[in-house]
Amino acid sequence: MEDLKSQINIAKLPEHIAVIMDGNGRWAKGRNQPRVFGHKNGVKAVREVTEAAAELGVKYLTLYAFSTENWNRPSFEVKTLMRLLVDTIAREVKTLNKNNIRLNAIGDLSKLPNSTRKALLEGIESTKNNTRMDLVLALNYSGRWDILNATKVIAQKVNNQELSLENITEETYKAALSTAKFPDPDLMIRTSGETRLSNFLLWELSYAEFQFVPTFWPDFTKRHLHECILNYQNKERRFGMISEQLV
Ligand code: IPE
Ligand code: IPE
Ligand code: MG
Repeated sequence: MEDLKSQINIAKLPEHIAVIMDGNGRWAKGRNQPRVFGHKNGVKAVREVTEAAAELGVKYLTLYAFSTENWNRPSFEVKTLMRLLVDTIAREVKTLNKNNIRLNAIGDLSKLPNSTRKALLEGIESTKNNTRMDLVLALNYSGRWDILNATKVIAQKVNNQELSLENITEETYKAALSTAKFPDPDLMIRTSGETRLSNFLLWELSYAEFQFVPTFWPDFTKRHLHECILNYQNKERRFGMISEQLV
């Protein structure tokens, strides 16, 4: 098979890649298995993509693991997903430390089951000094939740006369979002063929390049990531300008 990795221009890597990991349920269904079988098999793809991104030198990788809307799934599936998160984080912390990767989370963590939150906070604490790449898990996350939350923080400051209306800028918002520490993603990948955002990083993705791939998440490999990055590198990011202005 053609080596795609060697074709990637390291000088033009996306600094931040965001992924909507989708298609676990359909992957399982195609194998006459329960949906949670797909989630269990999705863990391998998380490992692959994390490793592949770090190997290349990507600085930030955000993975959409559970949306605020996902609570509406059957309770058995929600429970299994929450337990899977605990087990996976606990099991992977060693590897994250070995690979010098820092774990972070965005979303309303207060609503997570105690065991999930505990495993997550322990993982964050134990990897906090790592510097090679930031891995960000979006958990009980939604873009609208984050924007609303930021709005309340800003409104409170105005109310306390710490901030005037004229001084509310994009930077004010960015600083109040749960993604404040991370640059906006350059590349957003969604697997499984769906072409929607499902409430993911609504503020942050305003100028990202989107790649929609038909592969179900459990089948996503390093090679798929390399392909997405190569496609990304063939795009011209104009940011409102015209081609001739970009030198
Ligand atoms: C993505 O796969 C994982 C989560 C949302 C947690 P899905 O579970 O959405 O799989 P499909 O889309 O039903 O196939
Ligand atoms: C989005 O996938 C959320 C995650 C991948 C965690 P969904 O499968 O929940 O999205 P919709 O509801 O089909 O749009
Ligand atoms: Mg889905």
